[in-house]
Amino acid sequence: MRRRCVWETMAGLTAALVVLKCCSVAAEVVTCSGIVPMVYRNDKISITDFGGVGDGRTLNTKAFNEAVYRIKHLRRRRGTLLYIPPGVYLTQSFNLTSRMTLYLAKGAVIKATQNTADWPLIAPLPSYGRGRERPGGRYMSFIHGEGLHDVIITGENGTIDGQGGVWWNIWRQRTLQFTRPNLIEFKDSRSIIISNVIFKNSPFWNIHPVYCSKVVIRHVTILAPPGSPNTDGIDPDSSSHVCIEDSYISTGDDLVAVKSGWDEYGIKYGRPSTDITIRRVTGSSPFAGIAVGSETSGGVYNVLAEHITLYNMGVGIHLKTNIGRGGIIKNITISDVYMVNVRKGIKIAADVGDHPDENYNPNALPVLNQVRITNVRGKKVQQAGLIHGLKNSPFTDICLSNINLHGSSSRRYVPWKCSYVSGGAIQVKPSPCSDLIHSGSCPIQGR
Ligand SMILES: *[C@@H]1O[C@H](CO)[C@@H](O)[C@H](O)[C@H]1NC(C)=O
Ligand SMILES: *[C@@H]1O[C@H](CO)[C@@H](O)[C@H](O)[C@H]1NC(C)=O
Ligand SMILES: *[C@@H]1O[C@H](CO)[C@@H](O)[C@H](O)[C@H]1NC(C)=O
Repeated sequence: MRRRCVWETMAGLTAALVVLKCCSVAAEVVTCSGIVPMVYRNDKISITDFGGVGDGRTLNTKAFNEAVYRIKHLRRRRGTLLYIPPGVYLTQSFNLTSRMTLYLAKGAVIKATQNTADWPLIAPLPSYGRGRERPGGRYMSFIHGEGLHDVIITGENGTIDGQGGVWWNIWRQRTLQFTRPNLIEFKDSRSIIISNVIFKNSPFWNIHPVYCSKVVIRHVTILAPPGSPNTDGIDPDSSSHVCIEDSYISTGDDLVAVKSGWDEYGIKYGRPSTDITIRRVTGSSPFAGIAVGSETSGGVYNVLAEHITLYNMGVGIHLKTNIGRGGIIKNITISDVYMVNVRKGIKIAADVGDHPDENYNPNALPVLNQVRITNVRGKKVQQAGLIHGLKNSPFTDICLSNINLHGSSSRRYVPWKCSYVSGGAIQVKPSPCSDLIHSGSCPIQGR
């Protein structure tokens, strides 16, 4: 009896160990966030030390500028944290500096003024040649970082509110003078973390890392109404090693769009976006969920997007470019996507976006190859997919596998449409166009 009991206990322990081992394996969540280690800064100052008042009415521009100036000149080895206590801090746009943490407490709101008239102007991006919306310069982003390193924006889910409504109206009335400001832009910067912050009502794109490397954006919430114009969530632009994870994005334009410059300017600047990971992102928008483009003139390589959940979407997955863009889009992997109530499941085409001016080169054809899309499920998808390459630059090595995109019973079924594309399709329902089925094969790993 006794012996049996010991055995049972042993068996029980072994089982418990097995369970423990299983759980610890399951708990190991895959993450790319290690590319920028979190830094905890002991040196702290508060916006209130600089006269900041969180009453929602007082203008705090001077307080922000002085606090940032102080951090810049303190030159602490491990940097300084700027604490924003609960309250609503109205301010005009301001710059950040290196080795700083902008920390928003729970209930802290940094709110942009609605005064568009004296919003500062800065030079256009060389890879765009002009403002994205209007010729000439562009309005500086609300929170701006140029030539910086080791910057963290984090806290306890405080809010950065762009009060973009005024800008959307100017855009709608077609009286916009220069390109609208992004909510946050980092330009020529490296080692950036943005986490645990809520972004609301951006005038234009929300988070725009351009010419950056090592950028981690995670546990963020980005919100703008579905009708708000061009309020892209996150646009990594001519940037490398960007990690976007565990975020909820619901806006009026693409949730994540990987870019790299515009037509002849982007081709000349020649800076690609590479090594971009997008993982565990959920959201909704009348435009695209996961997008590459349409400005891809510097090239886009090595993009991985996985575990994406989309609902009430225009296009689930959208790779978009145009004649005149040039640029190579290559090695794009998208897997484990779930979508509900979507106009188009997958669209890959060279028919979108306008040109900066008439000087674009019509012979600069984009090249698109090595695209793997796998494990995609969808319900209420009006059209499963369309892929249209260019006659003189067909899309090649496009591999679709294990894709199941159901229509809704109330709507007419729209079949896949393709032209000038080759690659392969394995277990794709509804059945994709014959160009894909008959043209070749998917690599084994794509199964
Ligand atoms: C903020 O940065 C921009 C771009 O580098 C610069 O033009 C502007 O003068 C800076 N503003 C302040 C207040 O430092
Ligand atoms: C902040 O929001 C993120 C994303 O929704 C969530 O994962 C996290 O637990 C929240 N943190 C706090 C301190 O509330
Ligand atoms: C393709 O991209 C993946 C990331 O999605 C990367 O791990 C891999 O090394 C890339 N392949 C090549 C040949 O660069």
